[in-house]
Amino acid sequence: MSEDRSKTWRLATKLVRGGTMRSQFGETSEAIFMTSGFRYDNAEAAEARFKNEQPGFVYSRFSNPTVEMFEQRMALLEGAEAARGVASGMAAVNAALMCQLKAGDEVVSARAVFGSCRYIVEELLPRFGIKTQLVDGTDLSAWKAAINERTRAVFLESPANPTLEVIDIAAVAELAHTVGARVVVDNVFATPVLQKPFELGADIVVYSATKHIDGQGRSLGGVILASKAFIDQELTPYLRHTGPALSPFNAWLMLKGLETLDLRVARHVENATKVAEGLKDHPGIAKLMYPGLKTHPQYDLIQRQMRGPGNMIALEVKGGKTAAFKLLNGLKLVDISNNLGDSKSLITHPATTTHQRLPAEERATLGISDAMLRMSVGLEDPQDVIDDFRQALNGI
Ligand SMILES: Cc1ncc(COP(=O)(O)O)c(C=O)c1O
Repeated sequence: MSEDRSKTWRLATKLVRGGTMRSQFGETSEAIFMTSGFRYDNAEAAEARFKNEQPGFVYSRFSNPTVEMFEQRMALLEGAEAARGVASGMAAVNAALMCQLKAGDEVVSARAVFGSCRYIVEELLPRFGIKTQLVDGTDLSAWKAAINERTRAVFLESPANPTLEVIDIAAVAELAHTVGARVVVDNVFATPVLQKPFELGADIVVYSATKHIDGQGRSLGGVILASKAFIDQELTPYLRHTGPALSPFNAWLMLKGLETLDLRVARHVENATKVAEGLKDHPGIAKLMYPGLKTHPQYDLIQRQMRGPGNMIALEVKGGKTAAFKLLNGLKLVDISNNLGDSKSLITHPATTTHQRLPAEERATLGISDAMLRMSVGLEDPQDVIDDFRQALNGI
């Protein structure tokens, strides 16, 4: 169990030491408890643990020491009362919504979200009698018009995948709270270091830990953070009985990832800024969006809401899909991959990958054109990334 004084630690200390529990061997690195179950000293102890009358672990679908270390470190880092680790970012989004909603409830969601998140709010929830309204997340009057007494949750990503549009989280939270709806923020693009949704009024924060938290492209994971009451009463029974458990091994990778998160994110931001600056005026690029550039339409909001612009860049190549594909195929260093937040620079064509499920008109509404590419700037020397782009652009 983390000691109480850990709450007053500064960020870097929380990232390295938060939530650490040592076994009787006194290991310095967190132990990996690869066990499905736990034994009890006697039948009475088993009964008491199942009844929650005795502390201790029961079964790794419910909880596990390595997973709990990850959860406690995340809760400390985020300033949340509690956290639950799950198998992937999508398991986190699904569980955070499904555990609290029922037929007759309504959800208001930003239209610009990751393709699988759109599937959950747009297709899955309505199957269970939950009505979803999609709104332009940057338009506060649209949120205001959609939120009503039946709204139980609002869902948003900021910056959004892949358009990098930014939503005024505090203003949306204020609107949602007037009707008692909970604000669920997918904070993946911002990272836990660069944006603090709870300080802006969020009730539930979710992450794909697969991204910057692991940060080295090794494993899938997710985490949900919220009040202790929400986690204990609504989320935990849902997770316990539906089973999207985080593997202890993956939780250990995430713990190790967290130890260097602020160092990596700072370098990611530095590199992405250099890459955005180095490419924005290239004659082969029609448009480049990066939250760190003054040309981003919500630059002022980004300054207020975020502690740094992140490592994601969206760009449009002159010459449509053909040119975008030629650019991708011409890159020799940057990998074509739909993952993000990795130490390796990765690039994807959202219209044919992460957002291919959406009809063409919907992609157009969101600003996902056939010429658009989304890049996650990694930890290589940024000049090598810029050089790679320039040689690929010159080859179009
Ligand atoms: C914003 C966002 N949310 C959720 C996810 C899902 O995460 P995972 O792949 O870990 O399920 C992703 C990426 O895949 C994402 O970019």
